[in-house]
Amino acid sequence: NTANKGSFEWSAPSNIALVKYWGKKENQIPANPSISFTLNNCKTITKLTFEKKSNNNEDFSFDLLFEGQPKESFRPKIEKFLQRVAIYLPFLKDYHFTIDTQNTFPHSSGIASSASGMAALAMNFMSLEHLLNPDMTDDCFYKKASFLARLGSGSACRSVKGNVVVWGEHNDFSESSNLYGVTFPYIVHENFKNYQDTILLVDKGEKQVSSTVGHDLMHGHPFAQQRFAQAHDNLSKIKEALVSGDVATFIEVVESEALTLHAMMMTSMPYFILMKPNTLEIINKIWAFRAATGIPVCFTLDAGANVHVLYPESNSVKVLEFIKNELVAFCQNSQYLCDIVGTGAVKY
Ligand code: PMV
Repeated sequence: NTANKGSFEWSAPSNIALVKYWGKKENQIPANPSISFTLNNCKTITKLTFEKKSNNNEDFSFDLLFEGQPKESFRPKIEKFLQRVAIYLPFLKDYHFTIDTQNTFPHSSGIASSASGMAALAMNFMSLEHLLNPDMTDDCFYKKASFLARLGSGSACRSVKGNVVVWGEHNDFSESSNLYGVTFPYIVHENFKNYQDTILLVDKGEKQVSSTVGHDLMHGHPFAQQRFAQAHDNLSKIKEALVSGDVATFIEVVESEALTLHAMMMTSMPYFILMKPNTLEIINKIWAFRAATGIPVCFTLDAGANVHVLYPESNSVKVLEFIKNELVAFCQNSQYLCDIVGTGAVKY
């Protein structure tokens, strides 16, 4: 029986939200819809080895490796993920797994690996499900993979496919769902083809407030309802901009979304600040460069201090020169990562 033992290997990329997900309901249901660029270079590569158990032990059974070395510190997160997805993958307890993971980006770079990591793991479990259920369609495979990834980390559901992914119900997207991410269903204007994302590593430390806690603080937040309504409006605006090639509107929405995300953190109770002084230095430099050159470069932020610099491929040479001359000084150990919009998870 081919399902007795074997292995799969998948890579899944990180993604960067343009309209942000911040706030959730039970079962990882987002409080508002979001949209992201899937990245290409920042990814997690995970090999899943499986072997049918010889006993009837009812616990999950798995070994964890990170870059080839045992990594017990990942166990609670993986255990929680398996508990959440077990009803959707009823075969999980029949197997012993080895989960062997590596990232293409530097360890503890402050780049969240939860989206790429959970997506890569979900893809592997779907490959096993496909082996047991060979009639599954491709569409079902990818939807369910995104559904499972969401249960690991909300934004991970946007890392299964490329190049632009929408997650959460929205009037302009009849196929979108709170349960999984879907590919942006319109033709993206060529102004956004091969869009560049240079990630400036401002602070590589562990953040003081996790995104789980941050999402929770949107419950009872004084501005929550306005924020969720604004995300719907911004998704409509950015949809139009992506289709028409309106880079000015794109910039306006993306930068406003980044600052609003951090404004929600600063106005929650308890309040907190994840930006660092160098985050603001970089933002001001980007604004000055844009005003001086007219080059449509903009920034966005995750739930952290790092800055994602977004710009068209046609401006790469000039923007990279600007980044090296003026922005790298504000990065920890001068570190930055060059990425580009990509297509999603890949089977090896
Ligand atoms: O997927 P989580 O729970 O780590 O939340 C991520 C939230 C943001 O990165 C701040 C925004 C987003 O939409 O990715």
